[in-house]
Amino acid sequence: MSATPADASQGGSIDHVLTEDRLFPPSAEFAKNAVISTVEQYESLYAAARDTPDAFWRDQANEHLHWFEPFGDVCQWEAPDAKWFIGGKTNASYNCVDAHVEAGRGDKVAIIWEGEPGDQRTLTYRELQTEIAKCAEAYEQLGIGEGDVVSIYMPMTPELAIAMLACARIGAIHSVIFAGFSAESIADRNNDASAKLMITSDGLYRRGKVLPLKQTVDEALEKSTTVEKCLVLRRTGGDDTPMQSGRDVWWHDVVDSQPGKLPAKPLESETPLFILYTSGSTGKPKGILHTTAGYNLWARRTFEWVFDHRDDDIYWCTADCGWITGHSYIVYGPLTAGATCLMYEGAPNHPAEDRFWELVEKYKVTILYTAPTAVRAFIKWGDEHVDKHDLSSLRLLGSVGEGINPEAWMWYHEKIGGGRCPIVDTWWQTETGGIMMSPLPGITPTKPGSCTKPLPGVIPKIVDEIGNEVDSENGGKLCISQPWPGMLRGIWGDPKRFVEQYFMDVPGQYLTGDNARRDNDGYYWIMGRIDDVINVSGHRLSTIEVESALVSHPNVCEAAVVGRPDDLKGQAIAAFVTTTDREINDEFLKELKLHVRKQIGALAQPDDIRFTSALPKTRSGKIMRRLLRDVAAGRELAGDTSTLEDLASIAQLQEKD
Ligand code: PRX
Repeated sequence: MSATPADASQGGSIDHVLTEDRLFPPSAEFAKNAVISTVEQYESLYAAARDTPDAFWRDQANEHLHWFEPFGDVCQWEAPDAKWFIGGKTNASYNCVDAHVEAGRGDKVAIIWEGEPGDQRTLTYRELQTEIAKCAEAYEQLGIGEGDVVSIYMPMTPELAIAMLACARIGAIHSVIFAGFSAESIADRNNDASAKLMITSDGLYRRGKVLPLKQTVDEALEKSTTVEKCLVLRRTGGDDTPMQSGRDVWWHDVVDSQPGKLPAKPLESETPLFILYTSGSTGKPKGILHTTAGYNLWARRTFEWVFDHRDDDIYWCTADCGWITGHSYIVYGPLTAGATCLMYEGAPNHPAEDRFWELVEKYKVTILYTAPTAVRAFIKWGDEHVDKHDLSSLRLLGSVGEGINPEAWMWYHEKIGGGRCPIVDTWWQTETGGIMMSPLPGITPTKPGSCTKPLPGVIPKIVDEIGNEVDSENGGKLCISQPWPGMLRGIWGDPKRFVEQYFMDVPGQYLTGDNARRDNDGYYWIMGRIDDVINVSGHRLSTIEVESALVSHPNVCEAAVVGRPDDLKGQAIAAFVTTTDREINDEFLKELKLHVRKQIGALAQPDDIRFTSALPKTRSGKIMRRLLRDVAAGRELAGDTSTLEDLASIAQLQEKD
């Protein structure tokens, strides 16, 4: 086999010369002690979840979640609506902390935290329980109860996890907004979700600088019509944080003084747990809804299976809680499993490029879960930063967010994992709630670039344009044909879009939006998106979202945005714009980039902007994106277009639809 499909999806820029037939079996040493240690064990779990899902999930739920009241039916499924563990009552905050305290494990460390400036804290499960209860008590005082939406825009501090779990404790719904988004994006999300409370901090440390988060939130709140109160954590200090009287309150004033006794409220299984906005194929991000019991169980079991969790592990997921990875694998999965988690606030290259390795050595991290874009940055920064540190505590490595190209895989395996740590390349999505396909580290021989096989409960199908299952070697659209407990329950406020987006193409099946193929060994290879979603440094963005931001600038007439291969980010953002008669110069270019930052956030800032007098379109007026992708990637253009420099002349070439 030549280039891996994962490479192909990104234009084949990385490693395309590598042949990928290498197989890395788990070491006998690892396999011996693994949670799932034989292929037969996996196969019997897989068969049980596929053939007798009700019995399988009934046992799983009874064994791995606490129930205040037992559930009746396991699953009611009429696409697109899934309901799990009907009539039962549980609470995700109880499962994350109280369950461990009740079981006599209250003194175990839940969170080891390090701030970017080097400050440190540890919280045991008992301490975390108290902090969550205090925060929940403060919510109640601020008028927040079951069903209210709380927007959280915070740095990676323990209080971020506490704020999330305090919502879960009383049945409020959290909507975490990554702290890199703009005021406009915050306001859009607040309004879409009718958020009642906003939580933020005075500032955030980023590479030694302080970013004024509260200032951004103030701007957002001017346009957020439903937010009544704003709770502010003091993180960076200083006296200059403006507080609006009647609206803004300090965390230390209203949370710290609470008794911390509020018990977790028994909540019906399908009680909404959180909304998380993610980009789709249209301009407007959609609020993915997850509910309590099914999500919580999925996060826990996938964590335990994939990360082979043991009681003495020190587990570190380097994601931010602003993304689904942080929700499922910093908060809900590991805490429900009773793990000790390292949480780090800052950038991987501050104060120096060895910060991650310093942390691994210092805390003796055993499991590290990070993203391919980070791995590629580490490679670029140089091995000397890794060589300075003792990484022998590591036993397992994970990857998430995009396909990991074989070169990065090999470096991660050899340089970070010392050749002894299995790598779990985990494929999943905001919508799936948790990992769907991944090696099981004790049993699955891995192939660099493949997420290998589905977890128990995941029944993938590869289909053609009209939904028929296809010869999987060639690839097609990836669908999931049975409901699983962690699946999304809807798009907040938009049931029509929910059906259209995920359940129309292949009736009754969940359409993932990814292309995939399955090889002769039954291994899956994700080949990239089928829609206008691009993956920039593991962050999901809609090209149309960036286009809308560009055309909202008064001097832009039209914009087309595509992804182009990038060695570091996976994909970079390339924009083509037509403008009014304003002079094109560096100042305009800068202004446009800044404009997109302001509209969406720094993560959406185009890497290249090219000005043109017209965009190439089909007869029916559709922008020829495939052509623009080739132009952006610097690939040779097919046929007549190959020698044309000026897009305007390409635009003259009218293509049939
Ligand atoms: O295209 C797939 C890619 O990321 C998309 C999901 O993005 P998001 O909802 O932001 O969730 C990211 C974290 C789970 C998928 O549709 N993706 C994610 N993980 C992988 C991947 N592509 C290939 N291999 C992966 N391991």
